[in-house]
Amino acid sequence: MGIGIIGLGRLGGPLARGLAAAGIAEVYGFSRSRDKAEQIARQAAGLTLLDSAAEVLRRSDTVFVWMAPGQVNEVLTANADALSHRPILVNCSPGQDLGAFTDRWVDTYPNVNSATGQGSTLLSWGPGLADPDKQRVRSLLEAVGVVYEVEPTQLDAYCALTSNGPAFYAFILQAWADTVAERHGLDVDLARSMVRQTMVGTVALQEAEGIDAAAVIAQVAHPGGSTEPGLAVLAADFRPMAERMLQAMGRW
Ligand SMILES: NC(=O)c1ccc[n+]([C@@H]2O[C@H](COP(=O)([O-])OP(=O)(O)OC[C@H]3O[C@@H](n4cnc5c(N)ncnc54)[C@H](OP(=O)(O)O)[C@@H]3O)[C@@H](O)[C@H]2O)c1
Repeated sequence: MGIGIIGLGRLGGPLARGLAAAGIAEVYGFSRSRDKAEQIARQAAGLTLLDSAAEVLRRSDTVFVWMAPGQVNEVLTANADALSHRPILVNCSPGQDLGAFTDRWVDTYPNVNSATGQGSTLLSWGPGLADPDKQRVRSLLEAVGVVYEVEPTQLDAYCALTSNGPAFYAFILQAWADTVAERHGLDVDLARSMVRQTMVGTVALQEAEGIDAAAVIAQVAHPGGSTEPGLAVLAADFRPMAERMLQAMGRW
């Protein structure tokens, strides 16, 4: 049996592209807007579009139902007869309970980086999965990135780092580049490119040398140099701002 994706949107699309890039075969997809689904299929060689959610459910042993909660309920309720072979259902919507449809469910918080093979997926298991089922889901998600198994009660908190994270990190990098470029009348695109490359290099340095942020800072911030006073501003202002962000996000 294959792997199904119902909902080829901001998450389902990158998952389909990531699975294709990882060479995973027999991936079936269905999404509400056929034209958008076809666009994804053109970028995901292994993806076969089917004509209905029911067909995807029938032909798959593991189905990513990656839509908003109301949409998931609607699709599963309308296609309950296509669940008789008890496929594993993989949820990605906060607060969505798949227990009414099956005990073979998984809660995940993926992120949009799955398309690159560098995704981060938080995961917690439903009650009805055996070890081979878990291995099946884990291996699919590992094909598109790193999987973190966490306590169900901690999913929402960690999600601020991984699922919301790409938006925050992208914003911060761009805002820093734009601030420097505008203050000095520099080329904004060049500045943004330099910041992205510097961040890629900083992460690579930490990974390669197994060092944390403090060790990187020690390599950069010479006493009396320009980094130190910049860091002092970050140290004073960043934590209160991060706490205000969590409060605003309802993740306090
Ligand atoms: N985006 C993130 O970074 C992120 C991270 C973690 C969790 N989440 C959660 O994941 C869920 C999905 O998010 P998303 O950003 O991928 O949403 P999205 O971009 O709106 O994708 C949902 C997809 O489902 C399709 N769809 C809707 N109703 C359908 C139906 N009845 N049958 C088949 N396909 C249907 C939509 O089709 P159309 O193209 O016609 O709209 C769309 O392609 C949400 O609950 C969100 O809160 C999102």
